[in-house]
Amino acid sequence: MILGLAPMDWFTDCAMRQITQNIFNKYWNKSNHDLRLWTEFMTTDGYLRNPWWVIKHLLTSPDQKNLIAQIFWWNQENLVKTAVDIQTRYSKHFKWIELNIWCPANNVMKSWWWAQLLKDKKSTLKIIQSLKSNLDMPFSIKTRTGLNQEDRTNQTEFIIKVSEYCSMITVHWRTLIWWYHEISDRDFIYNIKRLANKKCKIIGNGWIKSYEEIQNYWKQNGITLDGIMFWQAAIWNPWIFTTHTPDKKELKETIIQHLNLAVNHELQFQKIISKPKLNILLSDTQRKISNNEIPNRPIVEFRKHLFNYVKGIPWSKEFKQKLAQIKDYENLVNEINKFLSN
Ligand SMILES: Cc1cc2nc3c(=O)[nH]c(=O)nc-3n(C[C@H](O)[C@H](O)[C@H](O)COP(=O)(O)O)c2cc1C
Repeated sequence: MILGLAPMDWFTDCAMRQITQNIFNKYWNKSNHDLRLWTEFMTTDGYLRNPWWVIKHLLTSPDQKNLIAQIFWWNQENLVKTAVDIQTRYSKHFKWIELNIWCPANNVMKSWWWAQLLKDKKSTLKIIQSLKSNLDMPFSIKTRTGLNQEDRTNQTEFIIKVSEYCSMITVHWRTLIWWYHEISDRDFIYNIKRLANKKCKIIGNGWIKSYEEIQNYWKQNGITLDGIMFWQAAIWNPWIFTTHTPDKKELKETIIQHLNLAVNHELQFQKIISKPKLNILLSDTQRKISNNEIPNRPIVEFRKHLFNYVKGIPWSKEFKQKLAQIKDYENLVNEINKFLSN
């Protein structure tokens, strides 16, 4: 079965995916599970106009073997151009190219076309056919159960048609207007699995909170999904893909390892964008970096991961308040060590 770390704009960057992959490799219980990782979605318009702005989304490391490059936009020409370009330059780093068919991230919501691909299913089908015929690489989509409950039947028909062209479809089992609420429509996906092209893998996503819960959702009434994808539950717990629960010491080591990767990637990224030919493969070798070489950005950006890691631990509120002032590596590591020392 496929276990997926959902794509999350601003979260599932190369460092977070690498941490998740490392933990999976270490604790994988040899059951028939296969971890897949998604890049944060990347705008095709940005990629074609100025790849230096958005190439960060595609950065990867040698250990991420099952990585999917996710793109979004509404315009067929730009989508096809971008997908073909990724295939030409970077195919050895990605197993799939994926079209995101609607996600309510803030930068997308600001655009007039925010739900265009879900609303205009006829044009979206044409886009998918065109992507399929222009790509040699496997192609997938990620979508929702529709715009609202009334759209459910049309969306079912659409997904079934689309399954002829895709090797994988992830369905986030909420409608667009349900946003990220706890309600979800899981029956929708079993119906899709029953009716879709058998060659197309069907992955379910939405409000699955633990590894144990997978058992409740991947099989129902004799219908077995091909996989399950996690988001909210995985951002504070990269161990969710395994049965292992870390102790405080391991949590601390993982946080510091994650921070070191984030810092290291930022330094490598600064070099990448200073060159005309953009490379997306980051090196695994971590050189020793002195505190004054480290820019503030990765330290400040790391706070969101750190806040998630310490969620629920006593005194985490006070710890977060303290962290809000810290902008340098050494102080941050000291505070993490102090907070998780006993
Ligand atoms: C801040 C944020 C960023 C997201 N970014 C993406 C994205 O880049 N691509 C995508 O397909 N979905 C994105 N999603 C949707 C998630 O991948 C996922 O489908 C959704 O959170 C439901 O899973 P969950 O109930 O396990 O959280 C994003 C969601 C949030 C809240």
